Amino acid sequence: MKKHNFSAGPCILPQEVLKEASDAILNFNNDNLSLIEISHRSKPFVAVLDKAIDLVKELLNVPEGYSVLFLQGGASMEFLMVPLNLMKINGKAAYTNTGVWAKKAIVEAKSLGRVTVVGDSSDKNYNYIPKGYEIPSDVDYFHCTSNNTIYGTQIKEFPNSPTLLVCDMSSDIFSRTVDVSKFDIIYAGAQKNMGPAGTTLVIVKDKILGKTKRKIPTMLDYNTHISKESMFNTPPVFPIYVSMLTLQWLKNLGGVEAIEKVNQEKADLLYGEIDRNKLFEGTAAKEDRSNMNVCFLLTNTSKEQEFNVMWNAAGVSGIKGHRSVGGYRASMYNAMPIESVQVLVDIMKKLEQNKDD
Ligand SMILES: Cc1ncc(COP(=O)(O)O)c(C=O)c1O
Repeated sequence: MKKHNFSAGPCILPQEVLKEASDAILNFNNDNLSLIEISHRSKPFVAVLDKAIDLVKELLNVPEGYSVLFLQGGASMEFLMVPLNLMKINGKAAYTNTGVWAKKAIVEAKSLGRVTVVGDSSDKNYNYIPKGYEIPSDVDYFHCTSNNTIYGTQIKEFPNSPTLLVCDMSSDIFSRTVDVSKFDIIYAGAQKNMGPAGTTLVIVKDKILGKTKRKIPTMLDYNTHISKESMFNTPPVFPIYVSMLTLQWLKNLGGVEAIEKVNQEKADLLYGEIDRNKLFEGTAAKEDRSNMNVCFLLTNTSKEQEFNVMWNAAGVSGIKGHRSVGGYRASMYNAMPIESVQVLVDIMKKLEQNKDD
């Protein structure tokens, strides 16, 4: 039985993508060579990279004047590359502090300049999205995290920024429509809605770069990768290939608008049950609930053992909550079918019906 994979990341990918990727490991393009044993500068691989870039541009409606890069080092490397590329010497930046990942981004920025935290939800273990804050206009950029994977909170409306707007979209990119033209840099580790870990998508507005007067190490300079079209060094060929396949899968489904509707249906189904069933409660503020990561607790912890046995037996996998929140976290990325969410909901209903002995 194939499992119902609710893992927070790395996470579920479409079955057909996994199948095609496995075939390409053995025999890519019917050329009797593996995808991972041909030159990254060969025509077949350059075509893969070009297609991946075109699909990103098409699916997200990326306007002219932006570069699409596939880099390495994960989203965590972008925590450093963003300030290196945007913060002036003795410069300043504004950040929201909405959890572990935001805090890690702040640490890197602080190593290069001053950071003002303009919105902070640490007072309630990050269970909400700060709102109503003012972004100073005299900072070099403002950074936010669109979806807080660990706490299950998601920005529903991005702030209007008087300065450059940078966003970590690692855990909700391609899950909902966004107006890319509002942003100056968007970055995301591949391993949620795109592909395997190992590449990071960066969408950067070209004209904002090269203004810091800072000496940027070659590999950490966005302009290096723009000028070499993500081929300054050997790119992560396999993660890029699988990302291309996943984006093609998404396009075939009808694109981001179509998947956004399905993601909303899945979220409505699971949150609906959490709110209806007295045995469960959600941990995130209702208006900030993430459609990707649903965090919830059992109100009656004596049911824990029983619940765990039930979901394990049904083939549900990866719903143990992050240690800093506890309870459960069901991640429902693009490739998760609504049928799997229904399986989890049915178990929750059954738990309610089971008589206490
Ligand atoms: C929102 C967010 N940002 C950043 C990261 C870190 O990504 P990476 O492991 O690719 O460095 C994660 C990882 O889960 C994440 O969820």
